[in-house]
Amino acid sequence: MTKQKVVLAYSGGLDTTVCIRYLQVMHNLDVITLTIDCGQNDDFREIEKKALSVGCLKHIFIDSKKEFAKEFIIPSIKANGLYQNKYPLGTALARPLIACKLAEVAQKEEAPNVAHGCTGKGNDQVRFDLAIRAKDPKLKIIAPIRDMNLTRDLEIKFSKEQNIPVSNEAKKYSIDENIWGRSIEGGDLEDASFEPPKNAFRFVSFSNDDIGEIEIEFQKGIPIAIDGKRLNINDLIEQLTRIVGSFGVGIIDHIEDRIVGIKSREVYEAPAALAIIESHRDLEKMVLTNHELRFKAVVEENWSWLVYSGLWYDPLRVDLDKFIDETQERVTGKVKLKMHNGCLRVTGRKSDYSLYQSDVSTYNGSSSFDQGLAKGFVELWGLQTIMANAIANKAVSDE
Ligand code: ARG
Repeated sequence: MTKQKVVLAYSGGLDTTVCIRYLQVMHNLDVITLTIDCGQNDDFREIEKKALSVGCLKHIFIDSKKEFAKEFIIPSIKANGLYQNKYPLGTALARPLIACKLAEVAQKEEAPNVAHGCTGKGNDQVRFDLAIRAKDPKLKIIAPIRDMNLTRDLEIKFSKEQNIPVSNEAKKYSIDENIWGRSIEGGDLEDASFEPPKNAFRFVSFSNDDIGEIEIEFQKGIPIAIDGKRLNINDLIEQLTRIVGSFGVGIIDHIEDRIVGIKSREVYEAPAALAIIESHRDLEKMVLTNHELRFKAVVEENWSWLVYSGLWYDPLRVDLDKFIDETQERVTGKVKLKMHNGCLRVTGRKSDYSLYQSDVSTYNGSSSFDQGLAKGFVELWGLQTIMANAIANKAVSDE
């Protein structure tokens, strides 16, 4: 009888390598490994070699960098996607894409099972499981690390028993990387009071004391050029990562609430995401009305929570994207940024759709704003506040 197949999301790390053998031994399955390139800086040939050496039936590689940027990062830019106002969602955005590819490959390969190497303590299991089930509810999902409550020590013991090579250089951190950022967890960072060492970072450097200036141009909410040079979104993000990171800008270090209730200390580096969102937000403040901005802030918070919590495929996310897209029609213009020693600030902005008119707001001479109109406005604006105070004061004096 031929064995059933399983498609495993394979990163080449210890967890997913252990998963190959577990699926073979404990579940008696033929394993197809699938590696998706979302811009992580990995040696994909080595990853393939490793999967084959542990005995996978077949290894599949898909370059999804373009799709990741177009279908996931661009909507996040338009939504100013930041979880708890800090985390640019790098890992959270990539998971539904990887899950979707798992389901597609499983269908093509006629595999009734898919597998991932997530633990039962994190967010990624929620994102994988829900996205896979949204794409194909018939697929059986196997998560060996979660199912067996495996720890790193047990994984290393099992690898030795099974003759799976384990790299000696013990990995200091659990890292997840793609073009939108790098998530760094575990090791000495679990002490929330411990400052992340410089060598934890790859995108951000600490040796540059110069002052940098750049200009990012947006068209309908999408960044399209740096310093007047048009670039496709992938190249633009890569270049910004390099430029902005070289000034020490891009580190995020905060306490985060995971979906499963755990608080965790999270460290990220995302120079391009921070620079783009900071400038995109700034431009929106110039071209959107106060009413649009206030409502969009509520939408952004909800959008970021949906994405963080694994609900990318909920219809609400699509509904919110329609609203957000509509708001981006006028988000066209240029924003200047200055960077120095880990700090970044906007130093200027320009747009043909600007609602900021210096002749209206100026305090000098020739303003077109009729100050006489303000007196009545102030009266009406504070009507209830003044009335409430008058009543309260009267109550006190009557006592
Ligand atoms: N806390 C982040 C998130 O939930 C990062 C997760 C990083 N994953 C990892 N394997 N290191 O999106």
